[in-house]
Formats: sequence, structure tokens, C-alpha cells
Amino acid sequence: MKIAIVGYGKMGKEIERIALNRGHQVVLKIDENNINEISLDNFKDVDVAIEFSAPQSAFSNIMMLLDYKVPTVSGTTGWIDKLELVKERCEKESVTFFYASNFSIGVNLFFKLNEHLAKMMDQYPNYHVLIEETHHTQKLDAPSGTAITLADGLIENLESKKKWEKENSDSQDSIAIKSYREGKVPGNHKIIYESSFDKIMIEHNAKSREGFALGAVLAAEFIKDKNGYFTMDELLKV
Ligand SMILES: NC(=O)c1ccc[n+]([C@@H]2O[C@H](COP(=O)([O-])OP(=O)(O)OC[C@H]3O[C@@H](n4cnc5c(N)ncnc54)[C@H](O)[C@@H]3O)[C@@H](O)[C@H]2O)c1
Repeated sequence: MKIAIVGYGKMGKEIERIALNRGHQVVLKIDENNINEISLDNFKDVDVAIEFSAPQSAFSNIMMLLDYKVPTVSGTTGWIDKLELVKERCEKESVTFFYASNFSIGVNLFFKLNEHLAKMMDQYPNYHVLIEETHHTQKLDAPSGTAITLADGLIENLESKKKWEKENSDSQDSIAIKSYREGKVPGNHKIIYESSFDKIMIEHNAKSREGFALGAVLAAEFIKDKNGYFTMDELLKV
């Protein structure tokens, strides 16, 4: 498969390594220094683009790639307020897009565990729920896209919770997400339920970026000959 990498930073480089190991060709690498190379001509022979750039650039990159009818996988976080517009294009036009706030298989199992635990905890409102996430100091967005997906899983399953907020939240109907930025941490997430008697906690810690990058390459292989909007639910059939 001929892959273009859009956003050739920490993730882009890891994706390249894994794509080459899986027998693919990386025919184009785009970062902030050569964005003018995103053109119809350069992308005409590309099978799939994998976009891991920055919160401020992802949406316009994705729109251009869809204009050129290039099936696109993106994991860039911090822009998902515009995700609905991309989904609409996938419904109305014959374009292909795969999005995951987290491509790690372990994290996607953790998302399911979070929803299951929330369903159980819904009967025990004396437990106060909180999300904590820790990432490396270069991360541009906070809270992480993964923490927002975890919060959405709680909101869907806890009757009393209607929204999430950054840091401390006094309001009964919102979930606080605390973000920490430390060293080179690839990504840690905790869901904490606390009562005056005890604490229940589930936690996922990524050991490296490899799990995210492998998921993105598997997603690229999955969408190559498909049309529409896809997520990890379709890839993992969970
Ligand atoms: N979904 C996941 O599983 C997952 C996992 C890790 C990181 N991420 C997200 O992926 C994104 C990238 O992470 P990273 O750690 O590789 O960041 P990074 O800062 O190391 O790399 C970003 C790259 O994007 C490039 N870039 C900037 N503007 C651009 C533009 N307009 N067009 C193309 N490229 C541009 C930069 O030159 C840089 O090479 C972040 O949003 C991060 O949160 C997602």
C-alpha cells in the first residue's frame, strides 16, 4: 500500500517505522515545512493518508485530503468540535475517513471497561467521579482526546452527569478532568470513584507510542477499499 504521512513528528515517524515493517511504502511525508506539497497531483497515487499533525492544522488538512478523495486516517486531537462536519461529508460524498482519539487496542478495551463500570456505579451516587490524565510536556491540547472520550463514556452511562469541565468542578452534573504534563509520558489515564469510605480506580498507562502507531496503520489497511466514516469500533468489532 502507498501511504502518505501528514504530520511527520513523534507519531508520524513511529507510523513510518511500523508501515515499512508491515511491507507498505511511504511515498510522501508532510510536516509544517512542506504543507504546500498537499496537492491533488502529489496525492493522486496515494492509497491512504495518515494524519497526525497538530490541533490547529488537522481539520484543514483533512478537508483537503477528502477533496482529493484520499482515504484518510487521523488521530490528531484538539479539533473534534469539527468532527461532525467531516462525518457529514462521509455520509453525503463518496469519501473515506477513520478517526480515533486513541488508536491503542488496550485503550479501546479500557473505554469499554469504563462504560461498563459507569453502568454499575450509576446506582451509587455517593461516589464522586474524577478523570486524571498525564502526558509529556510537548502535548499541545488539554485535556487529552482520550480523556474526553472517557468523559463521554461516563456522561452516557451516569444519569447525574451531563458535561465535563477542566480541573476542579463544583457542579454536581459535571465531571472534572485533571491534566498533568510531565517528562516524556506517552499517555496515562485514570478514572477514580471516591466515597467517604473507599476509592475505586481503573487505570491505563501506555508504555510507548508503538501501540498508537500500529493501530493507525491497521486502520489504514482497513479503510483502503472502503467508503464512509469509521472508528475503532468497526476495526476491533468490540
Ligand atoms: N489518536 C492517537 O492514538 C494519538 C496518539 C498520540 C498522539 N496523538 C495526537 O497526534 C498529534 C501529533 O502528535 P505528535 O506527538 O506526533 O506531535 P509532534 O508535535 O511530535 O508532531 C506534529 C507534527 O505535525 C507537523 N505539522 C504542524 N503543522 C502542520 C500542518 N499544517 N500540516 C502538516 N503537518 C504539520 C509538525 O511539523 C510536526 O512534525 C497530536 O494531536 C497528539 O495529541 C494521537
